Amino acid sequence: MPVPAELIERAEYLRRELERHNHLYYVLDAPEITDYEYDQLMQELLKLERECPELETPDSPTKRVGGAALDSFSKVRHRAPLLSLDNAFSFEDLQSFDERIRRGLAKAGPIEYTAELKIDGLTVALTYEDGLLTQAATRGDGVEGEDVTANIKTIKSIPLRLNSEKKLNLGVRGEVYIKKADFERLNERQAEQGKQLFANPRNAAAGSLRQLDPKVTATRPLDAFFYDVLFVDGQPVDTQQAGFELLKQCNLVTNPHTKVCKGIEEVIEFCEYWTIHREELPYEIDGIVIKVNSLKAQSDLGFTAKAPRSKIAYKFPAQQVETKIIDIIVNVGRTGAVTPTAILEPVRVAGSTVSRATLHNEDNIREKDIRIGDHVIIQKAGDVIPEVVRSLPEKRSGAERIFEMPKVCPECGAEVYREPGEAVSRCIGATCPAQLREWIIHFVSRDAMNIDGLGEAIVVQLIQAGLIHDVADLYQLSYEQLVNLERFGAKSAINLLESISKSKENDLSRLLFALGIRHVGAGVARELAEHFGSIDALMKASFEDLTAIPSIGPKIAESVVKFFNEPHNGILVEKLKANGVNTISRASTNELSQQLAGKTIVVTGTLANFSRAEIEELIRQNGGKAASSVSKKTDFVVAGENAGSKLEKAQALGVKVLTEAELLLLLKEE
Ligand code: IVH
Repeated sequence: MPVPAELIERAEYLRRELERHNHLYYVLDAPEITDYEYDQLMQELLKLERECPELETPDSPTKRVGGAALDSFSKVRHRAPLLSLDNAFSFEDLQSFDERIRRGLAKAGPIEYTAELKIDGLTVALTYEDGLLTQAATRGDGVEGEDVTANIKTIKSIPLRLNSEKKLNLGVRGEVYIKKADFERLNERQAEQGKQLFANPRNAAAGSLRQLDPKVTATRPLDAFFYDVLFVDGQPVDTQQAGFELLKQCNLVTNPHTKVCKGIEEVIEFCEYWTIHREELPYEIDGIVIKVNSLKAQSDLGFTAKAPRSKIAYKFPAQQVETKIIDIIVNVGRTGAVTPTAILEPVRVAGSTVSRATLHNEDNIREKDIRIGDHVIIQKAGDVIPEVVRSLPEKRSGAERIFEMPKVCPECGAEVYREPGEAVSRCIGATCPAQLREWIIHFVSRDAMNIDGLGEAIVVQLIQAGLIHDVADLYQLSYEQLVNLERFGAKSAINLLESISKSKENDLSRLLFALGIRHVGAGVARELAEHFGSIDALMKASFEDLTAIPSIGPKIAESVVKFFNEPHNGILVEKLKANGVNTISRASTNELSQQLAGKTIVVTGTLANFSRAEIEELIRQNGGKAASSVSKKTDFVVAGENAGSKLEKAQALGVKVLTEAELLLLLKEE
């Protein structure tokens, strides 16, 4: 029997009313009805949906309570990579940023920037289709994140349906966070229930969003601010500020303290103001994000491997506190670097308790005259890694001791050697278990091979049992070997073998990052994988081949060549291959389509739905090559609004010109 029209209308009315009251209550802090009245409306809608399941819709506010728990999050590939930001640690850094921008845009006058608070939470990317929230993903490694849609729906200030008649297709990037007061209350609750406390609001927000059971997330006080339009159909946005207006119109919450600044001086004033006043905010911020306001200028400036050139994060000066050094120990890293570390009397700094701090190297200790037993000032560098800034010699009692770098590695007994002219001392032991341990920990980490279930304790166990001598050995582990280890059961052994096996299919970019080549971070690894397509091609690449890639400088190129020239690294790669690890780039073999295979395409002008980087990524994903200048070899020019000389050149050379819509159509043909 069809559902009566009155019921359909009533359900629609209730959904809209509940969402309106939600927004009034959670965002505007101006409720029009009592909690009781709200509950009545909700109960009525729940009843209707129970009686007529046909009335249920994905945007129903009843979905906010959290549905069934998941076994694991599914992966979501972002439409275009979600990049990160370069940092500025001083006003001079901001001045240089401004100079780079003006040079890049060939502009003499002041640039218009937006200055935004840098909310200390975690990135989410939301997709609305026809005005309805259809997907929410974490950033993950920037290329692929986790699907946290059910959890995001529990956040009351996030609209399930955009406040727009236009039924927009909209992608937005924002930050999920927890307010300071809510964090304190959450930790009190955790303590009462005998559960573990969160170190800071950021960790609490991350932990809450990554709950497999959305009902748990629904009990956590999560909130969100949105700041970037990733894409939007049919509603051209030409500035960062216009993006903010669009977000606000749609009822997506933006931060009220955003400012459009004319010139870098105004930006610096904004940074100075918030350096002093940040503590007054109800949530934590760790800096200011500065963006060129014009989106056309943003796309003209382009990207480095990691970050857009048009945006930068100003990090507040680190908070400093006093404590005492109880001892100085050394840690052996993956490259054998022996790093002195101070063991401290625990102290709270920048939102968490710190009990260790790096001392970098021997020279740093000598220069700063830091002794065991000293009172010292510590800070978190970039608000993340704690370091000792200086000692307070006036507070010495005479019982302090001078630190000596050990002559032998505390982990393997091999010689610790410091090359003349180098600051770092290294353990030269070829079979040092500490180096192997750190290497494997890096290899399996989330942005590298992403092997779940291989924590530090298990890595140590595997090394001690003599089961692994290099990272390739991970792929030869057997069920019998694992199940005989202490604390291992049948289930954990099977799970671990499964996640190891799954990692064989990873894209080459992950493997390249996992290999731990100096200066090759996740972004550079992706560039190299996409450019060369296979590890074999990369291993043959010369210094010149590498530096021909715009984002690869001489330092990276030299390090890559050196790495693959080492015979034992070649042997390792062969062993990985023999064990079935993928060494081909998916971006070049292409899962999507080969519509643009072999085609060279130049994009010019401003596009309605894509930034320059996004469209270029799309071209690459479909097998094409995105070039920057037009020649006879160019197959297509995709021209957006205000296309200039490149379009003229294409017409003069008779190169085919496509509109954005025509290009998309071409990609859909199969
Ligand atoms: S813009 C391409 N704006 O800071 C860069 N990021 O260090 C896009 N963040 O991953 C980011 N507030 O999680 C931007 N107003 C803001 C932000 C912001 C916080 C976070 C975000 C990002 C990180 C970069």
